[in-house]
Amino acid sequence: MDQRIDESMTTECTIEEEAWAYLEKSIIYYNDRPIGTLAACDPSVESLNYDQCFIRDFVSAALLFLLKGRAEIVRNFLEETLKLQIKQRQLDFLEPGRGLMPASFKVETIKGQQYLEPDFGDHAIGRVTPVDSCLWWIFLLRAYVKATGDTSLAEREDFQEGIRLILELCLIARFDMYPTILVPDGACMIDRRLGIYGHPLEIQSLFYTALRAAEALLLDNAINKSTIQAVIQRLGPLSAHLRKHYWLDLERLTVIYRYKGEEYGKAAINQFNIYSDSIPYDWLSSWLPEKGGYLAGNLGPSQLDCRFFALGNLMAVISSLTSEKQSQEVMQLIDQRWDDLVGYMPMKICFPALEGQEWKMLTGCDPKNKSWSYHNGGNWPVLLWMLTAAALKTGRTELAVKAVAIAESRLSKEQWPEYYDGQNGRLIGKEARKYQTWTISSFLLAKELLEKPDYLALLTFD
Ligand code: GLC
Repeated sequence: MDQRIDESMTTECTIEEEAWAYLEKSIIYYNDRPIGTLAACDPSVESLNYDQCFIRDFVSAALLFLLKGRAEIVRNFLEETLKLQIKQRQLDFLEPGRGLMPASFKVETIKGQQYLEPDFGDHAIGRVTPVDSCLWWIFLLRAYVKATGDTSLAEREDFQEGIRLILELCLIARFDMYPTILVPDGACMIDRRLGIYGHPLEIQSLFYTALRAAEALLLDNAINKSTIQAVIQRLGPLSAHLRKHYWLDLERLTVIYRYKGEEYGKAAINQFNIYSDSIPYDWLSSWLPEKGGYLAGNLGPSQLDCRFFALGNLMAVISSLTSEKQSQEVMQLIDQRWDDLVGYMPMKICFPALEGQEWKMLTGCDPKNKSWSYHNGGNWPVLLWMLTAAALKTGRTELAVKAVAIAESRLSKEQWPEYYDGQNGRLIGKEARKYQTWTISSFLLAKELLEKPDYLALLTFD
């Protein structure tokens, strides 16, 4: 990064102008066409894979480009990533299944010829599967159609096939009896071990959002018939399951507290055999406000992960996965527990952090994910656009205004860090990149949404 440009930027432009200049700099070109953005442009650290375009990282930039009449880059991104999607299962089974989209890609050149090199998690640290990529991709395609009114792209046979393959991969019958999807640890934004294998909320919220988007995008024709039917059949049980079994508020907590174990048969109340001792009642009974609640982090046999995960909860509000009452209560919780969940930077990725023995067991002693750092209780500015959208959707504009003001007071001064550390997000993340693109685009997108709340229609579902 050119230091002179940076200095003049910070002294002479507004924060928004500066953010836009950095965002422009992060754009990746492929055969002279803009197709995405780099994850970060921090000259002071080894780039590892931050010099790639991550599908999840590009979402906030893409939405912003759509709002600003620059749909071309989003269209190029959707087309190129679709080409990278796995279309055939390899017989050596060393490649992921049909329908999967990469976590990230990079433009490479051989003999003057450019090509895209995808990473399906086969290069990533920990070899994690990017389950969320294909779900974000459908969400973005729907936003593209809404913003441009151009239905022809989504109606193209290659796009229809792409949507069908994603749904096939997600909806296929497996060794599972829930309407949610079963995934390995680290399959989403939290792409390291953090005890979120099974049915983590982030994936379930994105799954629901993608199903809603697919329902709107799939053409009603013979080839799509069974897929559309499968989508419709899944949506009801999925939202009912999440609204009922993941929901936590004081009332639910009392019910769970008095659960009996070892119930057999259809009439069982404690269906998942949750043992009272596994629930942190001391903490929850004092932390949960009188009014307010949230969707728990995960649910499985004798497992209810009571941590609050921001992305899953905010996307649940945005996509109307939570009922109207529940959406209001999620925002009430954020309001009432502002210091814990927002603090000095919107907002906390998950709360509370894993500590001690739990940290050892569930992260595999991961030093990057020590308590109140990075994924384990760090604060991530990228979550600002989702907080803003959820607040606007529920009529809690004042929360969005407050959150944006906090971000605005620090981000530019601190060179747009990837994440923040500490119980209240006061410290710049120990290993955080600077000039992280989704920090920059999320800030700009949040500002834009505040200014023009009508734009919400692009990303929300009624
Ligand atoms: C980290 C984050 C992941 C993000 C990537 C690039 O690995 O955990 O969610 O996509 O960085 O920014």
